[in-house]
Amino acid sequence: MRWFFYLLCFTAVQNNAQMDSRRFMDYWTDLFRPLPRNPREGFIPDYIPKDQEEFDFIIIGAGSAGSVLANRLTEVPQWKVLLIESGGNENFFSDIPIFAPFLSLTPMNWGYTSMPEPRACRDLRGKVCFLPRGRVLGGSSVLNFLIYQRGHPEDFNDWARMGNEGWSYDEILPYFKKSENIGIKELRNSSYHGVGGYLNIEYAPYHSPLEKPFKQAAEELGYKWRDPNGEKVIGFSKPQATMRNGRRCSSSKAFLEPIRFRPNLKVSKYSTVSKILIDPLTKTATGVEFSKWNKSMQVRARREVISSAGSIGSAQLLMVSGVGPKEHLQEFGIPTITDLPVGYNLQDHVTFSGNAFIVNQTGMTMNDLAAASPFVAAAYMSGRGPLTLPGGAAGLAFVHTKYSHDLDKTRPDIELVMGAGSLAGDAVGILRSLLGVTDEWYWKVYSSLPYNMRQSTFSINPVLIRPNSVGRLMLRSSNFADHPRIHLNYFADLNDLRTMIEGVRMVEKVISTKAFQRYNTKLHTTPFPGCESLLFDSDEYWECAIMQTSITLDHQVGTCKMAPAGDPTGVVSPRLQVHGIRGLRVADASIMPRIPAAHTHAAVVMIAEKAGDLIKQDWGIPT
Ligand SMILES: Cc1cc2nc3c(=O)[nH]c(=O)nc-3n(C[C@H](O)[C@H](O)[C@H](O)COP(=O)(O)OP(=O)(O)OC[C@H]3O[C@@H](n4cnc5c(N)ncnc54)[C@H](O)[C@@H]3O)c2cc1C
Ligand SMILES: *[C@@H]1O[C@H](CO)[C@@H](O)[C@H](O)[C@H]1NC(C)=O
Ligand SMILES: *[C@@H]1O[C@H](CO)[C@@H](O)[C@H](O)[C@H]1NC(C)=O
Ligand SMILES: *[C@@H]1O[C@H](CO)[C@@H](O)[C@H](O)[C@H]1NC(C)=O
Repeated sequence: MRWFFYLLCFTAVQNNAQMDSRRFMDYWTDLFRPLPRNPREGFIPDYIPKDQEEFDFIIIGAGSAGSVLANRLTEVPQWKVLLIESGGNENFFSDIPIFAPFLSLTPMNWGYTSMPEPRACRDLRGKVCFLPRGRVLGGSSVLNFLIYQRGHPEDFNDWARMGNEGWSYDEILPYFKKSENIGIKELRNSSYHGVGGYLNIEYAPYHSPLEKPFKQAAEELGYKWRDPNGEKVIGFSKPQATMRNGRRCSSSKAFLEPIRFRPNLKVSKYSTVSKILIDPLTKTATGVEFSKWNKSMQVRARREVISSAGSIGSAQLLMVSGVGPKEHLQEFGIPTITDLPVGYNLQDHVTFSGNAFIVNQTGMTMNDLAAASPFVAAAYMSGRGPLTLPGGAAGLAFVHTKYSHDLDKTRPDIELVMGAGSLAGDAVGILRSLLGVTDEWYWKVYSSLPYNMRQSTFSINPVLIRPNSVGRLMLRSSNFADHPRIHLNYFADLNDLRTMIEGVRMVEKVISTKAFQRYNTKLHTTPFPGCESLLFDSDEYWECAIMQTSITLDHQVGTCKMAPAGDPTGVVSPRLQVHGIRGLRVADASIMPRIPAAHTHAAVVMIAEKAGDLIKQDWGIPT
């Protein structure tokens, strides 16, 4: 484990160095991408645009969405497309699925933080929530935990019911399938899955020893072990992951690398867009301004500019370019071109991850396995072993609690994510840094456990997947370089807090099954700092604990809400065009009108697939 860590630090330092050496580093780290490599993968050449150069389409951001869109638009040979990305390449480390938590500590992360939250992250570093976002080819699909989960069919039918024509489940299912190349044998002929698409979906080729009791617990509690991306969602499963031969299959690796030599695709890396250029008279987007190698320049779009900069980037870019709430833009002296509710409707999934469960047997959890690192590394080289666990996740469960505001019992409101390790086993402090837990907190809560017992722990974390609370993203200044002010408002609706407590209770039920009691599985019971005065395991105690240390699952969506013309809450139309502006679309997580009850990457890829078709249709290209 240790040499991996040193190499990681080295890479991080190198990435921080000056831009030119960073470019050199791209080649260097690329050498370390493990072999055998899929023949479709390879280094994406960097393009240096000329000032005022013209393209048909300019796509901002090569993340989960932008990579897909660049692929689909360049299928039209006469369209010249420029893809602008602020970050550089993926590397050896970002390929390793279990290292996902470490990546947020590198310059591949934009490093946003929230404003202080009244009901969350109260005891974390700086009393704020960390909001990692990918700044690299592939965007947040390079930092993410690889879990491929689409959502409940009614999540999308809700979008359609809000007036978004074309977005019902039956209409979008073909786009999920279009991207997909399902590698899970028993699902290859499922009518819910696709074969032959760019994006590989696999199970980690490794079975955590915890998988068996998890499966048995499901049975004891009356839940089915099933494909949660199929007909029904409620149930337990092994996570499906965006993975190819045991390695991360980011959006960039899936959609960009195989087409890197298409002559009509240009990818400009290390290029940060500071403004979308919009003619205030004709209200038409004409291009973008960006800086690369510290040089500022402009490029022009003959047809359209598409913002795929993510929920934070797209909202911020629109606002600094004059598209946003008029009063708010006036505060910063930005002339309003179109008054739209950009930044509102921010939704996210929050999770409670401080609990650790102790088993009485060694070899059950991740931390134990780290001891055998040479073997683990060797197994990884052939695409196997525990390093392939997606972000360390070994099991998922979707359940419906009694607090659900929905009468439809097929719709989950809590997800449980079983991690093969836990925060307690975080000897080096990497997980602590990711979660924002202070060393002081860690030692207060876990020092009562002897070292070997800290290692024999795992976690099951409840996630609030149908929150009612809504936040807002606001500018800090008119300069894109200043990170925005992000109010998440987690648990502003108290029903959300009650539901989360139900999540904790659900985890307790799983742990008390015979399947887990076979290992005498026990919750570590040292109370969290700040909650010591409350009766341990009472609802009041968990309420306190949740507010002290809950963190985000990094699923921010909704800041450029899709809604039909005439709906005052909408920023983009159901064809993803910014209301009142010509030649400007948004295609990424920010357009979601309501967050699906799932991890968001799969839905973002679907949105981009559909956006590709919408754009082709609007320019008369057969789809
Ligand atoms: C740590 C973490 C774990 C996650 N785990 C999961 C998971 O397990 N499963 C799942 O489904 N989802 C997960 N997610 C969420 C999922 O990855 C995101 O919802 C999804 O990637 C968002 O896609 P996007 O295209 O909207 O934005 P992004 O993928 O973030 O892409 C935006 C891109 O735009 C670039 N950009 C932004 N501004 C500019 C600018 N001004 N100029 C140039 N480029 C710019 C960024 O660098 C980035 O590459 C996770 C996210 C994180 C951060
Ligand atoms: C394909 O589907 C049928 C039923 O629809 C099933 O009996 C069969 O086992 C499936 N084949 C594979 C390879 O999963
Ligand atoms: C970039 O420009 C700024 C200000 O113009 C300057 O201070 C900085 O040193 C430059 N950085 C590089 C790498 O040239
Ligand atoms: C773990 O606990 C279970 C249940 O109490 C017990 O049956 C088992 O023998 C224990 N295993 C070890 C290795 O102590």
